[in-house]
Amino acid sequence: MMAHLSLTNVGKTYGGSTQPAVAGVDIEIADGEFIVLVGPSGCGKSTLLRMVAGLETVTRGDIRIGDTLVNRLDPAERDIAMVFQNYALYPHMTVRDNMAYGLKNRGESKSVIEERVAEAARMLELRPYLDRKPRALSGGQRQRVAMGRAIVRQPAAFLFDEPLSNLDAKLRVSMRMEIRKLQKRLGTTSLYVTHDQLEAMTLADRLVVLNGGAVEQIGAPLEVYRRPASTFVAAFIGAPAMSLLDARVDSGQVMLDGHALAPVAHAPGPITLGLRAEDLRITDAGLPMRVDHVEELGAQRIVHGMVGDQSLAVVDTGDATLAGTVRIAVAPSKVHLFDSTTGRRIEAAAQPAPVPAE
Ligand SMILES: Nc1ncnc2c1ncn2[C@@H]1O[C@H](COP(=O)(O)OP(=O)(O)OP(=O)(O)O)[C@@H](O)[C@H]1O
Ligand SMILES: [Mg+2]
Repeated sequence: MMAHLSLTNVGKTYGGSTQPAVAGVDIEIADGEFIVLVGPSGCGKSTLLRMVAGLETVTRGDIRIGDTLVNRLDPAERDIAMVFQNYALYPHMTVRDNMAYGLKNRGESKSVIEERVAEAARMLELRPYLDRKPRALSGGQRQRVAMGRAIVRQPAAFLFDEPLSNLDAKLRVSMRMEIRKLQKRLGTTSLYVTHDQLEAMTLADRLVVLNGGAVEQIGAPLEVYRRPASTFVAAFIGAPAMSLLDARVDSGQVMLDGHALAPVAHAPGPITLGLRAEDLRITDAGLPMRVDHVEELGAQRIVHGMVGDQSLAVVDTGDATLAGTVRIAVAPSKVHLFDSTTGRRIEAAAQPAPVPAE
């Protein structure tokens, strides 16, 4: 079963609050699409998800699942399944009963329940654990049971609220891939919340970057990475974070610390310059940077330094000891420009080519 999901001008202001937690969000989610809502703590991700689930009332706007307006429907009537961070498994029930519970409640027949639980257990490699209680499972196994419980219901959509954040780093990476494979196989429309930009990048068909309850940008992960719509997105997506520096446009050139970096078609004046560490290279000539400290990551290192009184990070793969002043090469096509007042992206330089739409 599949469905498109449509959010139109959806907003939420909690009682007693003057600031909206979610401020007029528009998102169209296609059948089978995997959408990730990403943004810092408190930006409204869970609130938005909970409104779709029916766990929170909507202050304004419309939510449609398939063609049904669901604003006033109970969670149980919405044909969605939610997977939470804390799994919310029943401790006194076996894995089998945990997975079957929702179906039993719905009055499904015994044979349907058995069939669906068996199928989910096979997919999730949970067959050896069906008779165990949750406390006798590892964190990753519990998370899989929570997934299983969602899958057996064959819902129109999955909603995930930081389902992996209780797991250790290694398990998070493997579960992330499991979820993505499973979702592709089932083709179930999914809305996934995380504050982890890497998780967002690797999971999403499209990202929705939220800031203060409003959408900053919607796009495919690489599109957002390559052409962030604002300094907020630029600083949030990608690690290490894009360096943002106060620069100037003079005589058709982006000037930083007295060095011309890239030609631009833009009026003279102040501008915010964005440079990704991985787009910069330490070289013999170019922008001078005083080395501050070096983070060794194994395959590469991140060199942090100062250009004038502003910080800059550069990815380097060399192993020579770095000290004093080094020179940084900047490819003009890798320069990001933002309005220094609004923080919005400016398309004035030789920019990387847009990612073709699918
Ligand atoms: N029940 C509530 N009553 C009043 N305000 C709330 C309630 N739940 C959340 N808020 C507020 O709404 C805003 C958005 O909260 P929300 O939980 O949606 O953020 P989030 O993006 O999920 O954050 P996190 O990454 O920390 O989980 C916050 O300012 C929060 O304090
Ligand atoms: Mg949350």
